[in-house]
Amino acid sequence: MRIVRTIAEVRAAVSAARDAGDIVGLVPTMGALHEGHLSLVRRAREGSDLVVVSLFVNPTQFAPGEDLAAYPRTEERDAELAAGAGADILFAPPASEIYPDGFATSIHVAGITEVLCGAHRGAAHFDGVATVVAKLFQIVAPDVAYFGQKDAQQVLVIRRLVRDLDMPVRIEACPIVREPDGLAMSSRNVYLDAAARKRATALNRALDAAEAVVARGETGAPEVLAAARAVLTDAGIDPEYLELRSAEDLRELTRVEGTALLAVAAQVGAARLIDNRILEAR
Ligand code: PAF
Repeated sequence: MRIVRTIAEVRAAVSAARDAGDIVGLVPTMGALHEGHLSLVRRAREGSDLVVVSLFVNPTQFAPGEDLAAYPRTEERDAELAAGAGADILFAPPASEIYPDGFATSIHVAGITEVLCGAHRGAAHFDGVATVVAKLFQIVAPDVAYFGQKDAQQVLVIRRLVRDLDMPVRIEACPIVREPDGLAMSSRNVYLDAAARKRATALNRALDAAEAVVARGETGAPEVLAAARAVLTDAGIDPEYLELRSAEDLRELTRVEGTALLAVAAQVGAARLIDNRILEAR
């Protein structure tokens, strides 16, 4: 695996592969790689000839006061893990390569960014995500890009970005990867101390409880949300949000119909965690 720092280098590597008729897969990351990221790299390995992993802690998607400075930066380890999972190129640019002096463009995806994480982290969060992902797509020009379903709203924002701007890339969302006790893997899990780590399992258990209610045939939002909230309350967690929305367009739902997204975010100890579950009425 090669580590490249500049746009020119990654473009040269990709265009050589493309000239040879290769399929190019991109896994965008902010580093601090865990099994969730590695599952994306392995999936990219299966589906592409050239696998590019990007590692860039994107400052524009952090609101003031969020954890930009503290965000774990573990490039050496990340490089080993990415190589082990099958990456060919690790694109790890400095901030000046992505945001040179005078950078003045921002992409705003309207309609689905005002709710859930957008409502709580501020509109700038998804503007930062959409802008950096658009840049990565311009730089790497992948045929396929892989994202984790844990960031369900992010996946929808990127799908809409790609559709609206006619970007020639297929977006593949990959399943949430969980610890043995159900906690969704996240780079931010390292912020959890032992007590918070234990309490954090309540997010997945809350989603399980909601799913069990739906499986019993109770599909109303009040019942579904109450079941999830009871588990969180029991663990002393007051969620930032716990909402039932359409998995297609994030419209608020009064009952589980079609494909519903039950999404939760909560501060647990020092970590802000998110998780979600797709619910379908039988
Ligand atoms: O999901 C992430 O790690 C980031 O939001 C992404 C997609 C790499 C953009 O910075």
